[in-house]
Amino acid sequence: MRAVPVAALAVLLGILLVWINSDTGDSQAQCRMAPDGETERDMARFKAENHSAFVVGYTGEIGKALVRDLSKLQIFKRVVLMGRRQVELDVGPGIEQKIVNFDKLDEHADLFTGLDVGFCCLGTTRGKAGKEGFVKVDRDYVLATARVSKAQGCRQFGLISSTGADVNSFMLYSKTKGEAEAGVTQIGFERLSIYRPGALLCKREEFRLGERILYVLLAPVFYLFPTSLSIPVESVARAMVNHVVAPLGGSGPQTSIYFNKETHEASGLHPRGCAK
Ligand SMILES: NC(=O)c1ccc[n+]([C@@H]2O[C@H](COP(=O)([O-])OP(=O)(O)OC[C@H]3O[C@@H](n4cnc5c(N)ncnc54)[C@H](OP(=O)(O)O)[C@@H]3O)[C@@H](O)[C@H]2O)c1
Repeated sequence: MRAVPVAALAVLLGILLVWINSDTGDSQAQCRMAPDGETERDMARFKAENHSAFVVGYTGEIGKALVRDLSKLQIFKRVVLMGRRQVELDVGPGIEQKIVNFDKLDEHADLFTGLDVGFCCLGTTRGKAGKEGFVKVDRDYVLATARVSKAQGCRQFGLISSTGADVNSFMLYSKTKGEAEAGVTQIGFERLSIYRPGALLCKREEFRLGERILYVLLAPVFYLFPTSLSIPVESVARAMVNHVVAPLGGSGPQTSIYFNKETHEASGLHPRGCAK
């Protein structure tokens, strides 16, 4: 009789090991890293239009995936990466780094001139920055970036928010994300794309104990239902790119919110990500 729970445990452990050892994904064969026909045409048209972009939060996990993608796709004439520190980068031509002080972003306004697309992947944790520090980065720095860039002519803004973002939430995390979303929406970009991913799948450089424990407990769900609660950072990055290259149409500001599953779909990538 003991054989049944032991076998069930073995299967569970097997799934866990497959997931933990799978980087962010399956075999290359299952992936669709190349954009589909329509997106490819959009990318070609977009590239010919000579757009330029900035990325804030480019040293984070989503930000790094986005920079890798932008470096590979080469759809922008120029990409300016703005952060608080200089890092080693292996990127293609047209991508440059600038150090900024997010507390005094107005003083760096000229850096945003001519950059019509913005990608915001900023964020921290309460554990790392404290309550005030978390709100400062996840709301105030996000709003400052949106405000200064819009004033300098940014037309499209992609914002990484989170599942559960809700301005009326009693939880600091969800409320702060909701306030950031609401504030950026008011700024009135021609196109605002808000992404609300679930748990991010990546090889995180930083060790976050709570996150590791949660991920191990939820690993079977992540594996069996890959679009439900989790998403590889590569998929979030590609969704951001795909949305930006789609033609801007209609009159007045357009705001779209991409939940976890919709972000998977917008990426066009395999739900369990791609081996690099
Ligand atoms: N972790 C998850 O599972 C999860 C799930 C849903 C949504 N999200 C959200 O997704 C977004 C991106 O997440 P991520 O995991 O890619 O982020 P991450 O790896 O923690 O990176 C965050 C980025 O923000 C920058 N940053 C943090 N504090 C800063 C400060 N005081 N001044 C200037 N820059 C600062 C970091 O720069 P440095 O490298 O210099 O620190 C880094 O570039 C965040 O908003 C996060 O809340 C995360």
